[in-house]
Amino acid sequence: MSKNKHILVVGSGIAGLIAALELSAKYDVTVVTKAALAESNTRWAQGGIAAAMADDDSAASHAADTLAAGAGLCNPNAVNILCTEGPARIRDLIRLGVPFDQTPNGDLARGLEAAHSKARILHAGGDATGLSVETTLVRAVRNTPKITVLEHTFALDLVLKNGAVTGLEIIDSEGLPRTLDADAVILASGGAGQLYLHTTNPSVATGDGTAIALRAGAQLADLEFYQFHPTALATATSLDSSPFLISEAVRGEGAVLLDTDGHRFMPQIHPAAELAPRDVVARGIASQMALQQGLPALLDATAMSPEFLAKRFPSIDAETRARNLDWSRNPIPINPAAHYWMGGVRTDTYGRTSIPGLYAVGEVACTGVHGANRLASNSLLESLTFAWRCAHMLLEADSPSADITPFSGTPTILHEAQPQAQIPTAPITRLELQTLLWTHAGIERNAIDLGSALHTLDHSHVEGTTIHDLETANLLALARVLVTAALAREESRGAHFRTDFPHPSAAYEHSLVYAQEPKIRKINTLQVAVPC
Ligand code: SIN
Repeated sequence: MSKNKHILVVGSGIAGLIAALELSAKYDVTVVTKAALAESNTRWAQGGIAAAMADDDSAASHAADTLAAGAGLCNPNAVNILCTEGPARIRDLIRLGVPFDQTPNGDLARGLEAAHSKARILHAGGDATGLSVETTLVRAVRNTPKITVLEHTFALDLVLKNGAVTGLEIIDSEGLPRTLDADAVILASGGAGQLYLHTTNPSVATGDGTAIALRAGAQLADLEFYQFHPTALATATSLDSSPFLISEAVRGEGAVLLDTDGHRFMPQIHPAAELAPRDVVARGIASQMALQQGLPALLDATAMSPEFLAKRFPSIDAETRARNLDWSRNPIPINPAAHYWMGGVRTDTYGRTSIPGLYAVGEVACTGVHGANRLASNSLLESLTFAWRCAHMLLEADSPSADITPFSGTPTILHEAQPQAQIPTAPITRLELQTLLWTHAGIERNAIDLGSALHTLDHSHVEGTTIHDLETANLLALARVLVTAALAREESRGAHFRTDFPHPSAAYEHSLVYAQEPKIRKINTLQVAVPC
């Protein structure tokens, strides 16, 4: 790729902003983001970034924990890259000005989270790590003249010529359809927590990049693996779709989970109790809630002093107090909520997808680094590490081509479940879709529920042409492929738990979904209404 080529980055979380900053050393870069530049999933990350930075830790130990959490489905090469290159990327963030918390003697402060064998979670502003990272990167991007930022701009579909990406169809901030030409498009658009009724993700997390890639015919992998965070705050207001996250770091500091009678239940479920892998704790809480008529479980942090809680977890402290909860005196109600999609657009370890000119980094991508279950606080590190590698591959390569490393085993190949055109469909609202996925394809699944959900989804369409409607249509497309993949995997592994097949099976490796016939929407037939 020669100078003055133009690269489009879709999304403005840590992955998109790092990619844009690195690429701007040589290329013209445009960041397309559908909200304000600083709004993203990254902004809401609390716990921190896992990295083996201290003398008593090692990349090998971090890799072993990542592989164990991934339940046999991690790509070991990607894990090795994450854990060995991650520390250098943290030093980059420090150089950019991210104010990581320090101990009194000036070392990086380190927290412990579930399934880590060492305290290696770096944090900033106590529990405001994501906000600190996002603020620092947004400042750097705003100060980089070679980066153009298009805010409130919705990415609609890729433009393909002879099977390669040549641009992006967008709806601009005035609500007008436009085409942006590009030499490469990097999807960094995050996850799709809005698939579920309860999610820790903000409202922007509607999986647009994954849906765009699906429509263009890209391979998507391991979509059945959706991680549920064990502890979202369960107050009346959590009935909206974005309950407030209570970081795993709170359990890392010693908080415990209680039933409604005040008894701990996790020690009976796993030897690591509250610090067991995330899927185990989420299922443990869900089972306990079922035993107590759906009432939330309780998180007890009262062994910590009010001063410690306010200093170590200022955001959680403020949010709980704003909801009239004093967590230094009383246990607080929590329940699991959809948090992170391990599956996504299949990439190699440089972000290359199955379509030339299309790259994916961060949560939208599936490098295989998380396997069936992501280790806590590995997501910001993944975004940072693989966005940097993607950018540097593009900076160094003249004409990068897709070169996806084969999976280690034979993937289950599922073509996209495309409802036939003649099937009559009924309108589905976003809330109906989210409720269906929560009840039929959530923490526990089975063939009957998944089959029934797929039938409903195949007989549904989304009405309307507002941005909200376009997002919901993306969610519907993604719900179909997630449920198809979950139905096909007749085993339980990591975050995918089938009550009808409760054990792992050696018969399953990765899953792949792609559209047999790519179907890019025709922009000139769309009338888009943008809310004022
Ligand atoms: C948390 O703070 O518990 C979330 C961290 C993560 O999802 O890795």
